[in-house]
Amino acid sequence: MNQSKSKIDLYDQLAAQLSSLLAGERDLIANAANFSSLIFHALPDLNWAGFYFAKDDELVLGPFQGQPACVRIRVGQGVCGAGASKCETVIVPNVHEFPGHIACDSASNSEIVVPLMKGERLIGVLDLDSPLIGRFDADDADGLERLAGILIEVSG
Ligand code: SME
Repeated sequence: MNQSKSKIDLYDQLAAQLSSLLAGERDLIANAANFSSLIFHALPDLNWAGFYFAKDDELVLGPFQGQPACVRIRVGQGVCGAGASKCETVIVPNVHEFPGHIACDSASNSEIVVPLMKGERLIGVLDLDSPLIGRFDADDADGLERLAGILIEVSG
């Protein structure tokens, strides 16, 4: 099995696990907490996985797994703020080459940020950090967007 196929299989499994983990619960914070724990333990080579939620012009720290992180990020600032302002997934293969990257954990070398959208409205972002350079690719973007969609749908 090639690497891409096994990664897609892993996201298929995670989608099924997430759906059953969140079934019957609509609280966004509780569901985001279980979401971050599930992916932090299931996806290899992560040092941080969690959420920032949109409040006014800022992103405010939500449930996460990993080292303590900065609490408030202005929309447009850092990788999270870039994903939030574009409302698009941002993959950063090397955070040290990203202008304005906010270093919360010195172990982080690559990052992916997925916006959480409810229709046209930005709810927040999902943020994953890895100690590996180039850890995240288009399959991660597709898989994580699918998982984020489950969270938003269930927590409606
Ligand atoms: N690196 C992020 C900040 C959040 S932490 O990675 C948890 C950024 O540049 O927005």
